[in-house]
Amino acid sequence: MPMAPGGAGLLGHNSDFRSDRLGTLNRLSKATEPLLRLKLPVPGVRAAVANHPDIVQEMLVEKAKWFDKSDMLRFSLFPLAGEGIFTSNGELWRRQRKLMAPLFHPKALERYAPDMVACTVRTLARWRDGDDLALNAETTRITMAVAGKTLFGADTFSEADELGHALTVTLDWAGWIIGRPMAIAHILMRRQLGLLRERSSGRVAELARRAELGVRGPVLLFGERGRALARAIVVLDEHVQKMIDDRRSSSAVHGDLLARLLDARDEDGSVMSDRQIRDEVLTLFVAGHETTATGLAWTLHEACRDPRVYAEMEREADSVGDEPTVADLGKLGMCLRAFQEALRLYPPVYVFGRDSTQAVTLGEYDVPRSTNVMVSPWAMHRRRDLWSDPERFDPDRFSPEREATRHRYAYLPFSAGPRICLGIHFAYLEAPLILATLLRRYRFELLAEDEPEPSATLRPKHGVRVRVRARR
Ligand code: HEM
Repeated sequence: MPMAPGGAGLLGHNSDFRSDRLGTLNRLSKATEPLLRLKLPVPGVRAAVANHPDIVQEMLVEKAKWFDKSDMLRFSLFPLAGEGIFTSNGELWRRQRKLMAPLFHPKALERYAPDMVACTVRTLARWRDGDDLALNAETTRITMAVAGKTLFGADTFSEADELGHALTVTLDWAGWIIGRPMAIAHILMRRQLGLLRERSSGRVAELARRAELGVRGPVLLFGERGRALARAIVVLDEHVQKMIDDRRSSSAVHGDLLARLLDARDEDGSVMSDRQIRDEVLTLFVAGHETTATGLAWTLHEACRDPRVYAEMEREADSVGDEPTVADLGKLGMCLRAFQEALRLYPPVYVFGRDSTQAVTLGEYDVPRSTNVMVSPWAMHRRRDLWSDPERFDPDRFSPEREATRHRYAYLPFSAGPRICLGIHFAYLEAPLILATLLRRYRFELLAEDEPEPSATLRPKHGVRVRVRARR
């Protein structure tokens, strides 16, 4: 594998990423080689960047069974998501995906449309003509309420600020810890314990297995950042436990995700552990709202800068009722395309990775076992050879004709292959309904252009500051 450009100095590419994540991803994507090796300072820690959609297709789709969710991602998200569906691997992941998938089928999701609109209307009731708002906080309030209501039957409105803060702290910690010595040490220790378990038997293997479980997440949390994380986790755990306790004590029949998790039985009849339910609830709660909220804020940011697109979206919003329904989706084409285009320019999951579980080839290159291969939707979405005028906001790129001319894996906001986002249809249902409900009642004026801030997700640095004007 050819070495990536840059990476000078003792820390190699690690320091490039620390000083400028998005710029480094962009620079790497300019290289002509489809797969590049990164220089890292620790022996035995290998990383590469997949630069071309063909390689992405090979890794995420055709050879998916030889790639697991990466140890670095699993470590950084462990305090929040544990062994939930986003971070788990192997049999556990397969079982949980099979259990949840039926709820995310496009037809099954339609029943959530009224809640999606109702949560938006409830948020709008707090706005007044002329208010200056940080839009990302408002879209977060909406999508958090939608996720809480539709997946878990929970009302999060009164707790949105407390929950939002706790989640921001945990996600910021996850974004910060990636690539740091503590994370690398945990990962190396865990791999050594894994090898010991595989190569030994009896009591030694059992001790290695237990020790391995003990280092999946941080063992000690120190410093102000660590203490803030510990406090945030207590807040989140308490909320989730209350949600579970309330449901267990209720006699009503529910058909939502929480009911499915609580009712699930193994082949031997055993139920899911409380810890596993907690991990799934928090995973789905976060995955189900954070990315969509950010995507919606960026959509309005971009639309405000493009009068033609804005006018078309507003016209669509005016063509549906005050409370749009599934039947109106056909009239909201520009709202959907603008959302898709915002996810291209600002993909909330701007980089993700897989670890090879054995030596494997990608393209014409040998990839050794335990290599972390990164994919960056951010960089892929801005390649000049895949997108014409890539910096320009142009929702019409998502017309069926133009989509048909593109490489299938050039657009990756939801990833691809068996681990593709479970909520893609949820997001594509929710986004146009929310946008139409907002645009019908308010006009948005952008107060300042925003810029992306790469942490665990790609949030707008200043939250997208807007002034809202009530429409008659
Ligand atoms: C704009 C909105 C969204 C974006 C950009 C997004 C993005 C992603 C990406 C990139 C992944 C895969 C990461 C990887 O391959 O390593 C993922 C996985 C996942 N997403 Fe989403 N997502 C969105 C909305 C949602 C929603 C609304 C839900 C649920 C209601 C959801 C639930 C999940 C779950 C459960 C997974 C893990 C799937 C698995 O590993 O089997 N997402 N998402």
